[in-house]
Amino acid sequence: SLVNTKQMLQDAKKNKYAVGAFNIHNLETLKAVVKTAAEMESPLILQTTPGTIKHAGEDYIAAMAEVASEKYDIPIALHLDHGNSFDLVVKCIRAGYTSVMIDGSMLPYEENVELTKKVVEVAHAAGVTVEAELGNIVGVEDDMYVKEDKSAFTDPKMAVDFVEKTGVDSLAIAIGTAHGMYKGEVKLDFERLKEIASLVDIPLVLHGASGVPDELVKKAIALGICKLNIATELKIPFTNAIKEVFKNNPDESDPRKFLAPGEKAIEEVVKEKIKLFGCGGRA
Ligand code: 13P
Ligand code: ZN
Ligand code: NA
Repeated sequence: SLVNTKQMLQDAKKNKYAVGAFNIHNLETLKAVVKTAAEMESPLILQTTPGTIKHAGEDYIAAMAEVASEKYDIPIALHLDHGNSFDLVVKCIRAGYTSVMIDGSMLPYEENVELTKKVVEVAHAAGVTVEAELGNIVGVEDDMYVKEDKSAFTDPKMAVDFVEKTGVDSLAIAIGTAHGMYKGEVKLDFERLKEIASLVDIPLVLHGASGVPDELVKKAIALGICKLNIATELKIPFTNAIKEVFKNNPDESDPRKFLAPGEKAIEEVVKEKIKLFGCGGRA
């Protein structure tokens, strides 16, 4: 059965690697991620945004993830990514999600604390782990768009206060990553990461990992990042592989024929990411 992220992230923190959290959208993307993680004996976090839940249904998603967890001998968590309401959190926990993110990063600080605290209370009662976010991660994710100038990096002292007050299990921090691919050079505030990691006890999460150069990812992991979120770098090759099918055969009408190449394309990316994150062989 599915597990929460407690043990896998604690182990990642202790042994200085990171667990890959991959955003999936349907059966094909889920299968590609799960199969590759199992081949590489890696712990795995499958995650879906509210938009994907609207598209596929939390019950269908939970059922597929549950089947995957029975089929393979690796720890798999099903995580709500960027949960945007208390109600959705409860809905996901009822459906079988084992981990949730409550994203109150757009709220005034005290309201973020209150909402996160409330989520922690119900989630922990159900054995579900909670991720929260402090500071703003820019770019487009799902239906939300955070403009560059609105961005605020995570304040280290505020992070300490936030973790203390909320009892959250892991914390997503803003140090310069963005959702989607990057236009210019990626610059991360490693000094800030170092300071947060030295003050905060719980595993730290980096969103917007697509497009971050490998060297920077490695450095972020060495400095305390234990979970990395990958969405765009799966979406683009999945879609490109399908486009390629129709370019060569515009009359293709068998979903199995045009979806299979998308699935293959995702497998390649997941393999590279698991190698980079160091989570292979940790299952
Ligand atoms: P990317 O789309 O940049 O991979 O960001 C993913 C993410 O942070 C999901 O929460
Ligand atoms: Zn994110
Ligand atoms: Na990104």
